[in-house]
Amino acid sequence: MKLPPSDASVSLVGRSPARHPVPEAFIFDLVILPAFRRRGFAEDAMLELEVYVRRLGLTQISLHVFEHNTVASALYDKLGFVAFNNRLIKKLA
Ligand SMILES: CC(C)(COP(=O)(O)OP(=O)(O)OC[C@H]1O[C@@H](n2cnc3c(N)ncnc32)[C@H](O)[C@@H]1OP(=O)(O)O)[C@@H](O)C(=O)NCCC(=O)NCCS
Repeated sequence: MKLPPSDASVSLVGRSPARHPVPEAFIFDLVILPAFRRRGFAEDAMLELEVYVRRLGLTQISLHVFEHNTVASALYDKLGFVAFNNRLIKKLA
């Protein structure tokens, strides 16, 4: 595995199975500094994370991505993430 540069940031917080019917890991954010993008760091980090999450006994990884974020969407699509449920919002302002 290629290691991301030390100042790149990958954060993961696992959620308690008690609060979720499927024991899952939730990714709050994934950021590769601009100077280091398009070198496979995000893909490698996500694949490594998948191994770690499996080892924890969790069976699912979820995350939120904005529809306009086509770059991140392409990454998640490549990694096999699929849309699940539609979140509805009503703007009040
Ligand atoms: C999204 C992000 C993490 C990708 O990091 P990265 O290290 O550059 O991505 P990788 O080099 O591992 O790319 C893996 C795949 O992602 C997709 N991808 C990455 N950058 C892309 C771009 N600029 N345009 C289109 N697809 C892209 C491609 O499918 C790519 O596979 P390929 O190289 O075979 O085409 C990075 O662009 C980033 O930090 N963006 C800002 C923060 C952000 O939006 N985070 C996601 C929050 S949900």
